[in-house]
Amino acid sequence: MDVELRLSEVMAALSHALDISDGHPAGHATRTCLIGMRVADEIDLDPADRSALFYGLLLKDLGCSSNAARLSSLYGADDHVAKRNAKRIDQTRLPEALAYIVRNSGGFRDLVRVLAAGAKTMREVTETRCERGAEIARMLELPEETAQTIYSIDEHWDGKGHPHGLAGEEIRILARIACLAQTTEVFLREHGLDVALEMAEKRSGRWFDPALVRILRAAAVDREFWLGVESEDAGARVAALEPDDRLVIADEARLDRVAEAFAQVIDAKSPYTFRHSERVAEIAVATATTLGFPDESLRDLRRAGLLHDIGKLAISNLILDKPGKLTEEEFAAVKRHPLVTEQILRRVTRFADIADIAAAHHEKLDGSGYHRGVRGDELGLPARVLAVADIFEAMTADRPYRQPMEMEQALELMRHDAGARICPDAFGALERSAGPLDRAA
Ligand SMILES: [Fe+2]
Ligand SMILES: [Fe+2]
Repeated sequence: MDVELRLSEVMAALSHALDISDGHPAGHATRTCLIGMRVADEIDLDPADRSALFYGLLLKDLGCSSNAARLSSLYGADDHVAKRNAKRIDQTRLPEALAYIVRNSGGFRDLVRVLAAGAKTMREVTETRCERGAEIARMLELPEETAQTIYSIDEHWDGKGHPHGLAGEEIRILARIACLAQTTEVFLREHGLDVALEMAEKRSGRWFDPALVRILRAAAVDREFWLGVESEDAGARVAALEPDDRLVIADEARLDRVAEAFAQVIDAKSPYTFRHSERVAEIAVATATTLGFPDESLRDLRRAGLLHDIGKLAISNLILDKPGKLTEEEFAAVKRHPLVTEQILRRVTRFADIADIAAAHHEKLDGSGYHRGVRGDELGLPARVLAVADIFEAMTADRPYRQPMEMEQALELMRHDAGARICPDAFGALERSAGPLDRAA
């Protein structure tokens, strides 16, 4: 019998995708989780709250992709850089907020646009992220307290946070811990423990609950703990922190939910990819069913379809949403995304099998694809099916700035490539299965 897989292991691995999407180095969420759970150790949280906090810390950035496009177009800048810098400053202080806006706006026009948009727009941008993050946590069937923690993580003790300006104990304790932990992690990583503690002290009573700051300060003497947070194996330590009496097991159905939830995170990144992953999965499964794939392979292919573009979270929206032609450098960044997909999926033991399939979705039979540029004989049938589904979905998708191509027209264009660049068997099966695919769904 299979060894039971903990959901925490899967989430710790996938949290790296959220880190890079939010402009952090991989490991930000797992380190935040270690810090937050350490604070939780010192207060009397019941097991249910500990479990909810654990997942809230690990998945706090589930909504990160949902405001990336808007933030990027508002500032005319790389969303990763803008988000990373936002964590370093105290935006409730006017001079710091203004300096941030000047430094992170792409140009003078962008600067004027950001200033004109004002605080109300920024509140909306944060609210979108909080709402989507909480919704996706619910999709993952995590406790409601986890969703609420993610929703309220940017509320500040003095009432100047987002999205509702809650103050003091109006903010749930788990969200107060998460807010302190995530900011501490950024300063710890960039400047070391002393500066991180100094930051917490300065913002005590403004951003953070003073009682929690005192706990954090008291924990500073435990140097071994902090060395552990900064060590290479912080990710491995995190799964061990999940409360034992509240273990969540990642069975097959739960792993499907995980893939579905992350597909939403991926598709929210850009208005050009609305429902793309979900539709690619659907088309790939229909095509593979026509080819007679067994159930287990269909399940893997569906997950590969849902997650194939997870590496796109690492691409700036300046590039993803650019209306014109990409520069060579920009195209090189785009071409890296299947590799990033592969790296992320390989970290999840149970997704290692689909990593190869997902990472090959831009390969072509003649070797002209990316990221490896391998030829057809090195591509398995599942990878070929996924590649065909990806092309077909992109062509026929309804996008904000262009009309969808008619199904027949897309198939006609693809027919020219069948046998040369795309697999003729997979294409034939796509054609046969294309009829029942309901585009309006
Ligand atoms: Fe892709
Ligand atoms: Fe794609």
